[in-house]
Amino acid sequence: MLVPLLLAGCAGTTPGGDLLWHGKDWPTRHSPTPRDAAMEARIARILAGMTLEQKIGQITQPDIRSITPDEVRRYYIGSILNGGGAWPGMKKDAPVTAWTALSDAYYRASMSTDMAVQIPVIWGTDAVHGHGNVAGATLFPHNIGLGAAHDPQLVERIGRATAKQVRATGISWVFAPTLAVGENRRWGRTYESYSSDPAIVAAYARAMVHGLQGGLTGDGDVVATAKHYLGDGGTFDGVDQGENRAARAHMVQVHAAGYYPALAAGVQTVMVSYNSWNDTAAGTDYGKMHGSRALVADVLKGRLGFDGLVVSDWNGIQQVPGCAKDHCPQAVNAGIDLFMVPDDWKAFIANTVADVREGRVPMARIDDAVTRILRVKLRARLFDRNPNASAYAGHAEALDARDLAREAVRKSAVLLKNQGVLPLAPGKRVLVVGSSADSLSNQTGGWSLTWQGTENRNADFKTGTTLLAALRETLGTANVTYSEDAKGVDPGKYDAVIAVIGETPYAEYNGDVRAPKPVAHSSLHPADLAVLKAVSGKGVPVVSVLYSGRPAYTNDLINLSDAFVAAFLPGTEGEGLADLLVGGRTDFTGRLSFAWPGSACSTGEGPGNVVQFARGYGLSYARPARTNALAEPAVPTTC
Ligand code: GLC
Repeated sequence: MLVPLLLAGCAGTTPGGDLLWHGKDWPTRHSPTPRDAAMEARIARILAGMTLEQKIGQITQPDIRSITPDEVRRYYIGSILNGGGAWPGMKKDAPVTAWTALSDAYYRASMSTDMAVQIPVIWGTDAVHGHGNVAGATLFPHNIGLGAAHDPQLVERIGRATAKQVRATGISWVFAPTLAVGENRRWGRTYESYSSDPAIVAAYARAMVHGLQGGLTGDGDVVATAKHYLGDGGTFDGVDQGENRAARAHMVQVHAAGYYPALAAGVQTVMVSYNSWNDTAAGTDYGKMHGSRALVADVLKGRLGFDGLVVSDWNGIQQVPGCAKDHCPQAVNAGIDLFMVPDDWKAFIANTVADVREGRVPMARIDDAVTRILRVKLRARLFDRNPNASAYAGHAEALDARDLAREAVRKSAVLLKNQGVLPLAPGKRVLVVGSSADSLSNQTGGWSLTWQGTENRNADFKTGTTLLAALRETLGTANVTYSEDAKGVDPGKYDAVIAVIGETPYAEYNGDVRAPKPVAHSSLHPADLAVLKAVSGKGVPVVSVLYSGRPAYTNDLINLSDAFVAAFLPGTEGEGLADLLVGGRTDFTGRLSFAWPGSACSTGEGPGNVVQFARGYGLSYARPARTNALAEPAVPTTC
């Protein structure tokens, strides 16, 4: 089994020899970062000189679309973010120099207040598979594919490369890694989870935090974020932002599995999750995470000893009963330190000042929040210099990580079927079909240039190679014919057909496949079934490549194929797939990090679910195996 080997290399594992915590209750942990007395004294001095308005400005995080640099100065803002699809000047093709110019403007504004001690603003962004917001940045496979690589060292290298991409734009904080343990295929954020196996999530948590943060103080380091705390991947029926009904032991051992190593690796921020937790077995409803003092203050900061900052999610406070997106004393008192209030930040500041003045929020809580924010900023050396003084700032070449991404693509694809068809010999004449063959959007998925990954043309990416282009490079343009729908072409004229099918991009709840809809690729994307029917059984082998953010029922598609590759969401470097499909120089090593369902209503991996391919499954050229015809249970209209 790969996982024990995977974990064997992780230094500092628990006495049990692995990263996992097997206790039924929360472990007791301490911050891995020794408290720096001089730093703490400096923090106390800065705090003592701050007015209430300055403190509340420091705990507020607007989106760049709703705040100017001068407002950062006037309102003493401590942090800003660019949500998915927010670019300097709202120009999708903004060059890195436009990003650094805006970063410099915000930084200088934050250092020009009338405060006794200036506090630099910190800018956060979602670089969840490379710096997704920036045109020209190499995009890596999404987490679901990286999980199939079973390679923490690869993930650490991706973290290093991502940090450099982000520093090239003058940004110092990344809202990654996502540490969700995805348990239901319906969930629209399944692809942001590394695995349904907590051991893989735990191993990758440590790796990605080390990769992103490095020593926290270098030109190529960024502050990382363990998210979304806690239980985002286990909501009932996979409803995004829904209710997790796990028993305490399951929450402690499975959904928190990534947090223990992330905290031990020194992650400096934790993002609170939208979901709620209702421990139905114990009859204890903790409610929304954004309002849970028990989970944020008592467990995360108390038992687990987290001494960095806790940030809310985008308008997440409004989901707390009795709260609004611009006002939530419950969330402040729960222990959240920094509030992602993208648009209504002025009202939030006024309301929270009033909360303190009128006794709904104790000043000690605000002081704790500001202390933690200052501690993270001092640890990351943000007080020492302008983030645009970094050796990477403004250098577009730092966005390039194509070789690493191509390696990651090769390692993350999983061969589910191969009836002796692959690898294709060089020079073969190939018909390529399918709407995903020439689509960087379908190849990269959500969080790519835009939040949803939609409204993008191939040219918008400025870099990247579709699988079609990669096949033309590898086989020779004259040997590759493309027909998106296979109409008007005769497959019999070719040596092989490559069908590139897939989901269209989505992010978050837009990707939910809500019950009782079946999770069957053919019913969700009928054009893919149609194109396979058009080319299958014509006496020419058919190789199918599937882009998807989740495992889904595909037995009907696999039966129409002579080879079938689960490519997940590979990112910009389609050449990594051509490396596997042609020539045999590179073999498949990917192994499923989620079980693959054998029926359209099997949305999980527990009892009652039909599993077609177990977690850990994957074929290779070195270990070939023939696949019998798969059962094709009727796909119901509702599960
Ligand atoms: C989103 C996501 C979170 C992301 C944040 C900022 O709603 O839940 O993962 O970091 O907003 O874009």
